[in-house]
Amino acid sequence: MIIAIDGPAASGKGTLARRLARHYGLHHLDTGLTYRAVAAALLARGLPLGDEEIAISVARNLDLSRLDRDVLAAHEVGEAASRIAVLQGLRDELVRLQRDFAKREPGAVLDGRDIGTVVCPDAPVKLYVTASPQVRARRRTDELLSKGKPADYASILADLKKRDERDSSRSVAPLKPAEDAHLLDTSEMDIEAAFKAAVDIVEQAR
Ligand code: CDP
Ligand code: CDP
Repeated sequence: MIIAIDGPAASGKGTLARRLARHYGLHHLDTGLTYRAVAAALLARGLPLGDEEIAISVARNLDLSRLDRDVLAAHEVGEAASRIAVLQGLRDELVRLQRDFAKREPGAVLDGRDIGTVVCPDAPVKLYVTASPQVRARRRTDELLSKGKPADYASILADLKKRDERDSSRSVAPLKPAEDAHLLDTSEMDIEAAFKAAVDIVEQAR
């Protein structure tokens, strides 16, 4: 059982992936964290983001069980992740790790940008989660404020749009729905409603 979930930044795909994994007893991998972890390592060592060889060697040493979204949450890390995500050789390395993860028994939920199109094109269930940029920026803002961190809605909205544009327009593995993905627009849905809608889709597909 593999559930592939893709969508733009802060669409709610990670929350949904976690809930579905718990519900069905599956493993979960937030593939964004693999890009974030490589980016964070390069930033920490002051290395150039465009150096593919170094990025690949960092990727080879990634330990998937130690990826922590709280540690990798910084805005600069997300931005740097999206910059290095255009490197084909790096993507090949990370996709290898992600495919190995997807083979774990009894199955897995993976979320990211290219799960349904590249990482797991044969996944029996694919979801493409969206929400309007305004709703997504509001969610990110509220998330930061609830953790006591500073957050400015206008700059978060501008950054989200910029990152979506970069992720959607790149030539390698661009963000786009797989042809057989089920679209789930959560603009008007809270987490519970989105979860119920996703379970309905999974049950129909099974
Ligand atoms: O993984 P992704 O960046 O797509 O988004 P997320 O981290 O799952 O969700 C971003 C924020 O939106 C979190 O704080 C969620 O709790 C919230 N959220 C929401 O308010 N309503 C939803 N339907 C989905 C997520
Ligand atoms: O949490 P959020 O949706 O903001 O971003 P993320 O999932 O942590 O991903 C950070 C960046 O990594 C994205 O903007 C993409 O450029 C890249 N990424 C990717 O290219 N392919 C994936 N499967 C996952 C993330």
